[in-house]
Amino acid sequence: MGEALLRHHEYTNADEGAFRDFSCGEDGPWSERLNQHLPEDALDHAREGLNTTLVFYENTPEGAGIGFAALCCTSVENRHEKSPEADPLVAEADFDQIPAMLLGFLAVREGYQGRGYGEIMLDVIKAMALDLKIGCRFIVVDVQRENKRARQFYERHGFWRPKYYRPLKWFYDVKKSAASAEPPSKTTEDGS
Ligand SMILES: CC(C)(COP(=O)(O)OP(=O)(O)OC[C@H]1O[C@@H](n2cnc3c(N)ncnc32)[C@H](O)[C@@H]1OP(=O)(O)O)[C@@H](O)C(=O)NCCC(=O)NCCS
Repeated sequence: MGEALLRHHEYTNADEGAFRDFSCGEDGPWSERLNQHLPEDALDHAREGLNTTLVFYENTPEGAGIGFAALCCTSVENRHEKSPEADPLVAEADFDQIPAMLLGFLAVREGYQGRGYGEIMLDVIKAMALDLKIGCRFIVVDVQRENKRARQFYERHGFWRPKYYRPLKWFYDVKKSAASAEPPSKTTEDGS
């Protein structure tokens, strides 16, 4: 197994310096919310139990803070009864709501994008969803229609957009994808 390229942990005020100048670019209206998450919201959200923000660093002694992901619980309506012919979220479940993890934000520092770091971060999140000791069938992410690069990114990593669902919502099936998934080896949790 190769040396981990990134390390990660939950964001605290000790990380503020490393992420003070963080920007994932100014591609569109979504960038502003992403860029303000760490300085303005992440700690409050954590205190209030609304979101957990993971921060990722290059795995070197002075490694730069290169990205973050914000995660929380959610649920999605089980639409199978309404649209059994469309790709079903959960084929047989007699549940109104299906438990899921919401990937609220995923951002890589401008200048570090396109080097595979987003994929490594997403692998960590997929493994976390699979390891949760409570039911979690999907990872759900909202992607703005205009954010074509992000849509391509998620699509390439196993996410799909159900036709009958809100157009912004993309899903990753944690259980169905588990059999083929490789455990993440390119990042390590601090202290583990
Ligand atoms: C989307 C994002 C997290 C992907 O991370 P990344 O480290 O650039 O991703 P990877 O290097 O693993 O993969 C790059 C691929 O993602 C796509 N991509 C999405 N946004 C990109 C960007 N700004 N720069 C380069 N590639 C981008 C490309 O299709 C690229 O494909 P390619 O390798 O064939 O060129 C990152 O680019 C980013 O922070 N973008 C701005 C914020 C955003 O849109 N977040 C998603 C919505 S929550």
